[in-house]
Amino acid sequence: MRTHYCAEVNEEHIGQEITVAGWVSSRRDHGGLIFIDLRDKDEVIQLVCDPADNVEAHKIAEEVRDQFVLVATGTMRARGEGLENPKLKTGKVEMVVDKLVIENRSKPMPFELNDEKVNEEIKLKYRYLELRTQKSYDIFKLRSKATIAARNSLDSLDFLEVETPIMTKSTPEGARDYLVPSRVHGGEFYALPQSPQLFKQLLMIGGFDRYFQIAKCFRDEDLRADRQPEFTQIDVEMSFCDQEDVIKVAEKLISDVFSACAFDIPTTFKRMPYSEAMENYGSDKPDMRYDLKMVDVIDIFERCDNEIFSNIAKTPKKNRIKALKVPKGDEIFSKRQMKGFEEYVRKFGASGLGYFQMKEEGLKGPLAKFFTEDDLQAIIDRCGLELGDAVFFGAGEKKLVLDYMGRFRIYLAELMEIIPDDVFEFLWVMDFPMFEVEDGRVKALHHPFTQPKSLDYEDIEEIESIAYDIVLNGTELGGGSIRIHKEEMQAEIFKLLGISEEEAQEKFGFLLDALKFGAPPHGGFALGLDRLIMLMTNSSSIREVIAFPKTQKAQCILTQAPSPVEEEQLKELSLRIRQQAPTS
Ligand code: AMO
Repeated sequence: MRTHYCAEVNEEHIGQEITVAGWVSSRRDHGGLIFIDLRDKDEVIQLVCDPADNVEAHKIAEEVRDQFVLVATGTMRARGEGLENPKLKTGKVEMVVDKLVIENRSKPMPFELNDEKVNEEIKLKYRYLELRTQKSYDIFKLRSKATIAARNSLDSLDFLEVETPIMTKSTPEGARDYLVPSRVHGGEFYALPQSPQLFKQLLMIGGFDRYFQIAKCFRDEDLRADRQPEFTQIDVEMSFCDQEDVIKVAEKLISDVFSACAFDIPTTFKRMPYSEAMENYGSDKPDMRYDLKMVDVIDIFERCDNEIFSNIAKTPKKNRIKALKVPKGDEIFSKRQMKGFEEYVRKFGASGLGYFQMKEEGLKGPLAKFFTEDDLQAIIDRCGLELGDAVFFGAGEKKLVLDYMGRFRIYLAELMEIIPDDVFEFLWVMDFPMFEVEDGRVKALHHPFTQPKSLDYEDIEEIESIAYDIVLNGTELGGGSIRIHKEEMQAEIFKLLGISEEEAQEKFGFLLDALKFGAPPHGGFALGLDRLIMLMTNSSSIREVIAFPKTQKAQCILTQAPSPVEEEQLKELSLRIRQQAPTS
């Protein structure tokens, strides 16, 4: 229908007759002259309907309203002096319309399309209207570019793109499964994959050597700003490799994708052991865009005159006393604010939050009286305190302290507005523990197919695995590991996880079997594609970068999914609803 997309039109077309097509983004009637801004997928062009030029076209323009669908033919001319719009590629020209066709009308918009503050439920109900905005188009254009660049990058490294099943058996990645009832096998269920983990390992046993997939994954878990129940991974696996080989592929893939999207990033990334990330930043995904860092002061506190602290300090293996220096904190925060921070950490289980201020006369604050001059000096030296700084202390059980101090670090950085939003700080977090114990139960920190460095241990939580996460600006972008490729080792890990032999056979018998038939050493990783795009586009929520996302309550407001089904359908699937789900 069109001869040109709007973005193609410029001063070269002056004097030419062209046809454009799109939606009305605004219409202004200047008593006689009617101006229409017509927008197609990614640019706007100004149409001028002058009754002196063309009565018919002007008459039609009088009927036109916002978001009507038009096809306009006319001659391009230069805009008048001072009437140019430097924000538009077409800003120096306009079309004098000869023929205007209204292809379709539109009801008034249910919300102002470019208004960021509109309630999200309304926007999601009419998601296709939000997609019509320039902001959405730009996001999906970048997403498309990034996906194609990922494919090309992996193709150039000889990776084979293979699709794995969606209707399958459960793969544990730490969330609940979405289940699909079988009609043919009444009472039995497929699980939607939480990731293609086991299939990609089977492909290695199948001798494919290098696999990738832009894979849909499904996880029934608590949703947050960076989580969706249905999301996409760039999933990769390779054989006869060690950790360095996998990291090299991941770094090449990531830098190829960023450079295809016109971002300049390094080609190798910094690394940090998991234990250091936890001890210094209280997180396994530290944001390295700012410099707040914790230091250990448990040995100094052991000597203090306060029983609570000195008792905590007596068991340094189990407990932590961490100091977080805030440069110029004493100048920035009032005493009241500093006390107020305690309320913040209490929400995460802290019993209190101590602080010192670095004054001319030395270290001051409510805790100072418990320390000798020498120990106050030791705190100053250990934390590197300078005049005007503040330092906060968390003390108690290790996991708890690291967690709330880590959160407090982020809270402070946000409060102080020291987080730059125009940089990409990548970090590999390495050497994850193999297991964690929660309420007496042993759980795999990554997944149970990860290779432990060794199985000689005193404390099961001290076993390290060959697992690595890639973190970008404090968000976990991806993760992977070298896998177990020996059946005996896999069976041993299941045992340590408290999975009985029968259960292991029932759930993973096919994998244990396959491992007996010459499984090669292998490993890989997966990147969250949605998270990647979210970070690249500086979007505040993952929903902005998914065409038809679900809400925090895992609903699709547009299609009203999930929804009840006919009694007949349930019957065919051998299902009966025991009770109506609570309406949310
Ligand atoms: P993992 O579970 O760490 O690893 O997932 C890899 C990456 O997928 C993204 N991701 C999500 N994105 C949006 N919504 C979610 N609910 C969600 N869950 C995960 C994250 C995450 O880093 N099979 C392993 C990979 C491997 O070992 O090769 C796996 O799935 O960006």
